[in-house]
Amino acid sequence: MEFSIKNGNPEKLRTDCLVVGVFEGRKLSDSAKQVDEAANQAISTVLKSGDMEGKLASTLVLHQVPNVVATRVLLVGLGKAAEFTERHYRQAVRAAVKALPKGVQNVGFTLTELSIKKSDIQAKVAHLVETVLGATYIVNAIKEKKPQEHALDKVIVQVEKAETTAAEHAVNSGLGIAKGVRLAKDLGNLPPNICTPTYLGEQAKKLAKDYGFKVEVLDKAQIEKLGMGSFLGVAQGSLEPPKLIVLQHLKGKKSEKPVALVGKGITFDTGGISLKPGAEMDEMKYDMCGAASVLGTFKAIGELDLPLNVVGIIPTCDNMPSGNALKPGDVLTSMAGLTIEVLNTDAEGRLILCDALTYAERFEPSAVVDIATLTGACVIALGNHASGLFSNNDGLAKELLDAGEKSYDRAWHMPLWDDYQSQLDSNFADMANIGGRAGGSITAACFLSRFAKKYDWAHLDIAGTAWKSGKEKGGTGRPVPLLTTFLMQRAHKTK
Ligand code: BES
Ligand code: MN
Ligand code: ZN
Repeated sequence: MEFSIKNGNPEKLRTDCLVVGVFEGRKLSDSAKQVDEAANQAISTVLKSGDMEGKLASTLVLHQVPNVVATRVLLVGLGKAAEFTERHYRQAVRAAVKALPKGVQNVGFTLTELSIKKSDIQAKVAHLVETVLGATYIVNAIKEKKPQEHALDKVIVQVEKAETTAAEHAVNSGLGIAKGVRLAKDLGNLPPNICTPTYLGEQAKKLAKDYGFKVEVLDKAQIEKLGMGSFLGVAQGSLEPPKLIVLQHLKGKKSEKPVALVGKGITFDTGGISLKPGAEMDEMKYDMCGAASVLGTFKAIGELDLPLNVVGIIPTCDNMPSGNALKPGDVLTSMAGLTIEVLNTDAEGRLILCDALTYAERFEPSAVVDIATLTGACVIALGNHASGLFSNNDGLAKELLDAGEKSYDRAWHMPLWDDYQSQLDSNFADMANIGGRAGGSITAACFLSRFAKKYDWAHLDIAGTAWKSGKEKGGTGRPVPLLTTFLMQRAHKTK
């Protein structure tokens, strides 16, 4: 899809479909007003007839609007003017895309004219780009007949002349993020018999080739050599060989310490011997969405050619029950030398991440962020809107929270107090791998924190935000927007 920035009168815009907004109470946006005046009140006349009130995300297509160059005018409802926020803006853009008649290949948006608190032209344009690409995303389903692609291939974004340069930059960053989101969705949506650890390794190599990253995909023998007893404990139940993927984007100063992103790559989580119930178990193919978000973020920073050093570390394997699988009661020795009593084989994410966190030390990172579909408890705590954020450094936490707000991919700061640590006490090892039902997402983070003492670290629990269930089942590509925005902010600071 191609995006271009234009200035000028909306009624003169040459496009298959011009999108203008209408607030509740049939109140026209500035562009809608301008088009209405040029068109001898054609819009207000239709509104007066009662066809549209301006309810959020409602739409109406008008044809042959007099004195308007566009073939069609699409009215989109914006809801109450006084309550208009970023969320409403995104909903309106999405509704407009979904309502485009089939033949429309080229659309013109005027919605960036709407004022939104705490948002500027750059944010509005970037969100428009991401929302349009999100709304036209099609799952690459394995069906006899390939799903038809959206006809839309050109999007014009109408802005004020003075906003042009900022808007053009925003198209660029929005596109970079959207491409990363798309990759993360695609990987998440793939079936687990295709998206194996080996497959993820191949994808990392492909990305490295496309964008000039350094890449290494370590195999089981190399992982053994590193002493990753905890990671290997999880992997041992599966016939699929584990991989440790290491990607490096080295576009910062040589002396600059890298940011490390560590992604949980469980390509299928059955629970292992502590087997999960059967209902909806298919969704555990999404247990590699942390890994997918690291690959997606690398795609985005590759596209944007971000002047920064970034390392991606992905431990990836299946969690399966078998004659060879981990058992409750087993004690594993991690790469850090700390021993872990496995009380529940379904708490496997932390077991593969702890070794990856120890591995991260060798890069002397300025910060490490791990991303994991780690706990059902996080979904209970925060639902599907915010990712859980835990950190041993408040400054880093703030950077990530801000990036989440800016990219509308939000996280919520959770406690990581020492008070919770004793829930992990074990009679038989340095720690247990579970801390009981109370505060399950917090004790999981506490477990990880024990392996992240040598650097500034944050953990994003994306169990509730990485995919959607039900009719809209599918990966969301989160938190690629948050992570990419965080890295963009860092690149800006170190320049
Ligand atoms: N991958 C799951 C977490 C998960 C559960 C994500 C549901 C999304 C939806 C993780 O490996 C897991 O099974 N966690 C257990 C931990 C428990 C055994 C302490 C959980 O949350 O039930
Ligand atoms: Mn599990
Ligand atoms: Zn899991």
